[in-house]
Amino acid sequence: MPAIEINRLTKTYGHTKALDDLSLTVDKGEIFGYLGPNGSGKTTTIRLMLGMIKPTAGSILINGYDAQTQKQLAHRQIAYVPGESNLWPFLSGEETLHLLAKVHGQCDVKYRQKLIKDFDLLPNKKVRTYSKGNKQKIALIAALASRADILIMDEPTAGLDPLMEQVFRQTIREAHANGQTVFLSSHILDEVEALCERVALLRSGRIEKVGTLEELRSLSALKIEASFKTVPPDVRKIKGVSRIVVSGNHLSCEVHGPMEDLLGVLSKAKPVSLLSRAPSLEELFVSMYETKDRNNDRHDS
Ligand SMILES: Nc1ncnc2c1ncn2[C@@H]1O[C@H](COP(=O)(O)OP(=O)(O)OP(=O)(O)O)[C@@H](O)[C@H]1O
Ligand SMILES: [Mg+2]
Repeated sequence: MPAIEINRLTKTYGHTKALDDLSLTVDKGEIFGYLGPNGSGKTTTIRLMLGMIKPTAGSILINGYDAQTQKQLAHRQIAYVPGESNLWPFLSGEETLHLLAKVHGQCDVKYRQKLIKDFDLLPNKKVRTYSKGNKQKIALIAALASRADILIMDEPTAGLDPLMEQVFRQTIREAHANGQTVFLSSHILDEVEALCERVALLRSGRIEKVGTLEELRSLSALKIEASFKTVPPDVRKIKGVSRIVVSGNHLSCEVHGPMEDLLGVLSKAKPVSLLSRAPSLEELFVSMYETKDRNNDRHDS
């Protein structure tokens, strides 16, 4: 049984289609990245998973429990971290953690102590005196300490400094080693690249692409740089090759799909140096979204 199963989910707000017939499966134990530009529907999906809003059509199963009709059972599977937490300002960090543990109904107290140390949180201060990053740490510690089967996170590291970002990554790896499932929506592509095996790329309420990072990279062009002792070979006729730039004895180009043919021609010409580089997730993201219309906060009427 998958950890999360989204079936033909649609959510409209007036004339705005926030989600449009979206289906997605997240397997147990996966760290799954959920990406998309502002307004593409990430938070809406997460709110629907938590049963905070009602879908216009479709359904979500959380460990087999319907997020709408079996809310309590579904909630028992989940811990949630929002991008910006509204915590109780007059409680201390420690009191907040105790209260959140009660809300979750389960807490690994020993692990929570470790997390407080790892995240370098001073638990005795009042929440209203905490900085943005420190408030975020409380939400993270509470969710992680619950050891819930499924962690659902919506831009969880907004406001964390680079050191704490590293601690966050470590704790997500610990959750993964512990067999938990992580659904991570994030604009920090480095973070997604470091943690997630599979990702979905969202656009205007639909899933544009879903797959492993490897698969997504293989859909995109590979950058090739080669230098020769004399003039580079002619690669214009080779299938999948584009953006060819020849300057002196140096050749650069991009190749889509299999690269055997190109490599054959290049190696025959005995290159002095040959470099190939897969695009980073950031390059994929930018090239995917920059070319088409950035149709956010749109109205479909
Ligand atoms: N309560 C609401 N009322 C009306 N429209 C809404 C509401 N919530 C979301 N929307 C619209 O639904 C679409 C998706 O919004 P959503 O917040 O899910 O995007 P997102 O991917 O989380 O964006 P971001 O990266 O900025 O967090 C947007 O067009 C947004 O304006
Ligand atoms: Mg959002």
